[in-house]
Amino acid sequence: MRGFPSKLSCLAVALVLLAAWGCSSLKESSTSMPIKEYEKLIAGRLDADYVGTDSCVEKCHTHDRLTKDFRTSLHGGQVTAGTGMPLVNCESCHGPGSLAIGNVRNETCDFKTFIPLKEIPSGAQSLVCLKCHSSFSLANLSGWSSSRHAVANVSCSDCHQIHKGPQQKVARDEITDLCVTCHKEVVGKLEGMVEKFNTLAENLKKTLSHFRI
Ligand code: HEC
Ligand code: HEC
Ligand code: HEC
Ligand code: HEC
Repeated sequence: MRGFPSKLSCLAVALVLLAAWGCSSLKESSTSMPIKEYEKLIAGRLDADYVGTDSCVEKCHTHDRLTKDFRTSLHGGQVTAGTGMPLVNCESCHGPGSLAIGNVRNETCDFKTFIPLKEIPSGAQSLVCLKCHSSFSLANLSGWSSSRHAVANVSCSDCHQIHKGPQQKVARDEITDLCVTCHKEVVGKLEGMVEKFNTLAENLKKTLSHFRI
């Protein structure tokens, strides 16, 4: 019995130490990469300036189709100063463009100075969109980061192809095909359900016709 209080005090000391360690390790929470590097990922080259869509696209016409689509899209056409919404231009997603257009050769800008949107981690890709879409737009995107898709490294651009045309929404008739490209497992289930439903409808029809007689 004598050992009991000392065991208890040992436990107390251990707990205090553990709590102190826990707190200090929380205080020391660090980013997964140096802040400067992270800023570069999101903002692009920090030594570049924003020049605006017109300056971006006037020197090279390789992007004429893409630019026309952008200007007629909701992002480029309807989000105007009067709406009070954050204005969108090429640089909102690609980062500042002064270095890229400062070095145009053979109708090609120095695109390596833009944010490498296809190469950055999927979480960073989505952040490019979420800087506007977590406070504006759909409320449900505010919970995006903890969604199953985000956790599984699916990014906005896996579903929304920004430059496919003037429409950034996923067209209604393309939604099922889109989901099924990754969720092959549901196809079998759905087909089974459709079969069951058809049998059910058939039986119901028979029963109803029975009543009518
Ligand atoms: C809302 C965000 C967004 C805006 C605004 C935007 N882009 Fe993009 N752009 C992307 C993303 C994301 C990609 C990479 C994925 C893809 O190709 O869909 C991309 C890819 C590109 C590419 C490479 C295409 C390829 O085939 O690899 C070019 C060129 C481009 N954008 C030019 C522009 C120009 C010019 C503008 C302005 C008129 C613009 N973008 C506006 C998000 C945007
Ligand atoms: C600079 C701010 C900004 C950025 C960055 C941005 N958006 Fe948007 N987006 C808007 C605004 C403002 C609207 C119009 C209001 C709305 O629909 O909420 C919009 C609308 C949309 C729509 C609806 C389009 C339609 O035709 O109905 C989609 C889809 C969309 N954005 C996807 C994206 C994706 C994907 C990205 C990242 C590649 C992105 N946005 C980046 C501000 C932004
Ligand atoms: C798994 C595929 C998928 C992912 C990932 C995804 N979306 Fe969507 N999103 C959709 C579908 C499907 C719709 C509904 C399409 C419609 O409204 O016609 C939609 C709707 C939207 C709309 C509303 C369009 C409107 O006005 O009705 C916005 C804005 C949007 N998404 C932005 C984003 C952004 C930003 C991200 C990343 C943070 C994202 N989405 C990630 C599939 C996706
Ligand atoms: C780029 C691939 C991809 C596309 C496209 C995609 N998903 Fe997913 N989805 C995933 C991954 C990966 C997971 C995570 C699976 C896990 O956590 O086990 C997931 C998870 C989900 C979940 C959660 C499942 C659960 O058990 O809680 C739902 C619901 C879902 N997706 C619906 C959709 C819908 C609806 C679409 C079409 C608009 C879609 N997905 C398009 C890859 C994708």
